[in-house]
Amino acid sequence: MTATALKEAPVQANSPHHVETVLWVKHWTDRLFSFAITRPDTFRFRSGEFVMIGLPGETKPILRAYSIASPSFAEELEFLSIKVQDGPLTSKLQHIQPGDKVLLGKKPTGTLVIDALKPGKRLYLFGTGTGLAPFLSVARDPEAFSKFEQVIVGHGVREVAELAYRDLFTREIFEDPLVGEEAQKQLVYYPTVTREPFQNQGRFTDLIASGKLFADLGFDQTKFDPENDRVMLCGSMAFIKDMAAVCEAQGLVEGSNAEPGDFVLERAFVG
Ligand code: A2P
Repeated sequence: MTATALKEAPVQANSPHHVETVLWVKHWTDRLFSFAITRPDTFRFRSGEFVMIGLPGETKPILRAYSIASPSFAEELEFLSIKVQDGPLTSKLQHIQPGDKVLLGKKPTGTLVIDALKPGKRLYLFGTGTGLAPFLSVARDPEAFSKFEQVIVGHGVREVAELAYRDLFTREIFEDPLVGEEAQKQLVYYPTVTREPFQNQGRFTDLIASGKLFADLGFDQTKFDPENDRVMLCGSMAFIKDMAAVCEAQGLVEGSNAEPGDFVLERAFVG
């Protein structure tokens, strides 16, 4: 689909989707990009939630669930996406340009929200690949810093180039007018790479089970503390399954919107 086709796509009056305008696009690698769209006045969400994003298709729209990477009060809606060359949506979405139109679902939802966790002291956010997206939202929301003493953002990727938003977590967030001061005192960023040399290497499952993650962070703990630690997980099916097993083995209980717990999880969009 060309950019022109996107602009001219017909819109039904009773559509379950908003039609929003692309504001910017940033390509991180040939497999990863971010983009932002306009936010309708009526669109409300909680930091960490996901929503359907799509493009008009030949017969019906093609939509996929995307975590919103912006915090709940942001003026624009930001997303982090993989590019799959034969993916029904991302093969086209990766070519969007500012000014193009994108469909936005009307019902954001999800469990990677602070409300689904019991109160605690340390908030661990572990994302692999595009699973970082919901934590870009949660960690840019002052609520994370008012409800927790420390916020740890863990991003696991195969290659260094896939560490999207490294500049945000090593520099920009500390200058943010809203959360900068809190972030300086309370935010810890832990990137790790599995298939190239890097300062931190290995999978989160291994880094946590061995206690290396806590040692690297300089924390006085060798495993999760169910009294004080709360965890959010987002990544591939295999990642969240294996990480949930690690959390449970260390005494954490899964939570939900209906019944807050010690950890919550969600699958990152992968297709
Ligand atoms: P690895 O390179 O050892 O597979 P992916 O792109 O496949 O989603 O992987 C993103 C990151 O998540 C990679 O560093 C990958 O490590 C890691 N990863 C993949 N599967 C798991 C898993 N089951 N448990 C822990 N980490 C995983």
